[in-house]
Amino acid sequence: MQMENSRLDQAMPQALRQAITDKGHVSYAEFIRIAAFDPEEGYYSKAKTRVGQSVESDFYTAESLGEVFGRLVVAASIDLIGSETEAQECSFVEIGAEPGRSVLDGVEHHFKETLTLRLGDVLEIPDTAIVFANEWLDAYPFHRVCFDSEKGWQELGVAMANEECLEEITLPKLTPPVQAIRGRLPETTSEGYVLDLTVDATHALREVVRQSWHGAFLCFDYGKTWEELTHAHPSGTGRAYFRHQAEKNLLKNPGHQDLTCHLCWDFMVETLQETGFKNIQVDRQESFFMHRAAPVIRDIMQNKRTGLDGDTQTLMELLHPARMGDAFQALCAVRPGTLRDP
Ligand SMILES: C[S@@+](CC[C@H](N)C(=O)[O-])C[C@H]1O[C@@H](n2cnc3c(N)ncnc32)[C@H](O)[C@@H]1O
Repeated sequence: MQMENSRLDQAMPQALRQAITDKGHVSYAEFIRIAAFDPEEGYYSKAKTRVGQSVESDFYTAESLGEVFGRLVVAASIDLIGSETEAQECSFVEIGAEPGRSVLDGVEHHFKETLTLRLGDVLEIPDTAIVFANEWLDAYPFHRVCFDSEKGWQELGVAMANEECLEEITLPKLTPPVQAIRGRLPETTSEGYVLDLTVDATHALREVVRQSWHGAFLCFDYGKTWEELTHAHPSGTGRAYFRHQAEKNLLKNPGHQDLTCHLCWDFMVETLQETGFKNIQVDRQESFFMHRAAPVIRDIMQNKRTGLDGDTQTLMELLHPARMGDAFQALCAVRPGTLRDP
């Protein structure tokens, strides 16, 4: 399915126009890298409200709903690491928080220290840590490939149709990151099948877990297995979000809307396996918290004052299968003892 041409009705980052002019086209990953992270005009670099339930924001997350998520995360982190005493020896490191926010805001905990690493920070992890992230990895640029029954997998990219219009094109050849995983793509599939490949997110995770810290890793995000991505989502999972509306047209107003796609959990699990992590699990958000944070859930349910107070409503939003409970998954793993950089 060809993406419709997109008229630019808001200024696009100058660096994007330059990159397309210089080369004639850019890959989707390069397009997203500039649209999302250009230091001046990228969506995530600008000082604006992106995340939350207000009308000016574009999407909300579990973290933006308030303290309940933080309380569940603290309980689950203690469960993962083994005990409250062990948790007290750990630095709690959050990666990918929005400016001025942290998942532990207003939440009681006894971690040794807390560190919040945001866009632009060096992702350096202390020796003993619980590393946490919510919807961090889905923000990374992704490559987009499309199956052609005569030519095989082709990589898609972006060019200017004219001065005011972006268009999707087929690149003359696969970029090196896609070439590197070419062998994993299915030999054949239906004509026009689109796959969004989260290669950059896998590299970002690797940069964090290849460091020699030990402790626990816990991230929440939306993802699919490789089997699901290659068989059940023929139009790809890439989406744009603007003012709480999901949009399939990724080319619309670069720099002004969030661009994201589902992670491939298999790639993430392999990365953790290769770097010495154990007990690696991918669970639905609901079942993860039911198993690992049951006392907090009980406490909220027992202390509710009226039929559905604020905390109970948030809990329902986080756990109900029709809300975030099923759509989001938790990836968790532990790495005991002191390990050298693999
Ligand atoms: C979808 S938002 C999620 C924000 C927040 N964690 C939440 O759940 O509300 C993605 C976040 O990842 C951050 N991010 C993207 N790349 C990053 C990087 N390389 N290092 C740190 N943070 C990054 C963005 O700045 C943004 O705050």
